[in-house]
Amino acid sequence: MQKTERHFFAPGRVNLIGDHTDYNGGLVFPAALNMGTYLTVKQHDDADSCRFISENDPAEFLIRKEELSQKRNSWVDYPLGVIKEFTDRGFPVSGLQFHYRGDLPIGAALSSSASIEMVTAVALNALNGSPFTMLELVQMAQHAENDFVGMNCGIMDQFASGFGKKNCAIALDCNTLEYEHVPLEMQGLKFVIANTNKKRGLVDSAYNQRRSECQQALEILQQHTSVENLCQLTVSQFDELSEYLTGDVLKRARHAVCENGHVREAITALKRGDMSSFGQLMNASHASLRDDYEVTCPELDFLAEQAQQFPGVLGNRMTGAGFGGCTVTLIAENQVDVFVENVGGAYEQQFNICADFYVAEIGEGTREMKNAEFRM
Ligand code: GLA
Repeated sequence: MQKTERHFFAPGRVNLIGDHTDYNGGLVFPAALNMGTYLTVKQHDDADSCRFISENDPAEFLIRKEELSQKRNSWVDYPLGVIKEFTDRGFPVSGLQFHYRGDLPIGAALSSSASIEMVTAVALNALNGSPFTMLELVQMAQHAENDFVGMNCGIMDQFASGFGKKNCAIALDCNTLEYEHVPLEMQGLKFVIANTNKKRGLVDSAYNQRRSECQQALEILQQHTSVENLCQLTVSQFDELSEYLTGDVLKRARHAVCENGHVREAITALKRGDMSSFGQLMNASHASLRDDYEVTCPELDFLAEQAQQFPGVLGNRMTGAGFGGCTVTLIAENQVDVFVENVGGAYEQQFNICADFYVAEIGEGTREMKNAEFRM
């Protein structure tokens, strides 16, 4: 068993474009952040239990090994879900202490939960002699969230956390799981994340509902065309079929198809250095998430509106699941300070909440860390 401490890190992610496409078999374009979750694992004094500590949450857990598969409705469900994935595959876990610390804002759509899952998965894999590939670990972390936590998420967040690469975004086809690291040649621009700091309630149930509306749309369309997922349709194919859909189901499906087109065009634009088109596609993406997918909120829309008309801004959109959380803005580096001051000020005046701003630093994916580089 593990005598000495070992240290691991898993990043959060910012999704640059392509939200609510992953579970529709579409494209996404996230990048791993330098912020994330740190984990130290060491042997615990009782071989028949595990201890879980988080510096971000006062709730500590000492759990007997036969009770590790019971949900606690707390942050510890993320590691417990991953432990269950390992146990189910013949790698039971006991006698360990897990000590977490995160520097991501929690529940702010930057994948704090996926980073806890991924750091746990990569740590358990290392402690067991690495029986699983990174893709398998990503899939196990996603299953943990789907089956144990009960959030029916797609694969994007865990994938971005696992496969992040410094100064690159990840063009991922969520249908085939083919991916490419695309260098972010920033040309004097920055991605700035703005956290609404709005408390998000009932995100999981609203998210699961959107997902089931897309499934309903797919089942109806499958009576008229042979597709396995919504994102296999082009916008013009969808337009021809849209008469079979109505109401919210029509709007949700239209978002998925159009957003997939936005991602495809945005990746092409970025590769030819056309940041202005990339920014316009970000704006179009936000409008679709607001009007068709209806996952924005007044706070996100206010930040988007302020940003999109701000000098030096090429584009802005909400990022992640929505209902609160963050926007991401593509902006000239020399405008960042005045942007933060002015948009932050206007936001505070409007909502009486302070937004937080972060200039995105794009880093590497989940990994073990040497003692010296580990910041605990
Ligand atoms: C959450 C989910 C992802 C993805 C996004 C929306 O972050 O975990 O799988 O669906 O929402 O794009």
